[in-house]
Amino acid sequence: MEIETKAVHSGYSPDPTTKAVAVPIYQTTAYAFDDTQHGADLFNLAVLGNIYSRIMNPTNDVLEQRITDMEGGAAGLALASGQAATTYAIQTIAEAGDNFISMSTLYGGTYNLFAHTFPQMGIKVRFADPENLDAMAALIDGKTKAVYCESLGNPAGNVVDIARVCEIAHAHGARSNTARISWCTR
Ligand SMILES: Cc1ncc(COP(=O)(O)O)c(C=O)c1O
Repeated sequence: MEIETKAVHSGYSPDPTTKAVAVPIYQTTAYAFDDTQHGADLFNLAVLGNIYSRIMNPTNDVLEQRITDMEGGAAGLALASGQAATTYAIQTIAEAGDNFISMSTLYGGTYNLFAHTFPQMGIKVRFADPENLDAMAALIDGKTKAVYCESLGNPAGNVVDIARVCEIAHAHGARSNTARISWCTR
């Protein structure tokens, strides 16, 4: 399937009863359980299904599946803001004592998150010049969990060589796709 088709159709099939093609907006917080066992199984993650819109929602799920398909990814998670996505992306893979590398060409809110907020939680950032990827490689050590870049640096508008960054990061065992996670949510 071409990416244009995926952008319109992935993750959703027309409603079998009404034949409506637009994705419904499910304005629900809660979901019904078949019985108490079903509820218990859902909360124990023994079966897949909707539990509570704070953690999943059928409308968001279409977006998540669609972006995943377009990106050729394993799974997606849609969040309410870019800053939340950036925070989740790093917190999911790094813990106190770890570090990650970020290109220095960054949106100001993300710079503050990386330079000031994460260090308070014990996660250190190492800023790298996107024009000097050899120097970036030298910053990676055994505690480096990710390399972060904006696919189009804000506000510089610079284009980072993502393929090369991925190559270097993967060769050193770090992950290199957090920017994709961030941008997909915006
Ligand atoms: C590159 C980039 N990342 C993150 C953000 C933060 O996004 P949000 O305002 O949705 O938290 C912005 C906002 O402009 C941005 O430009």
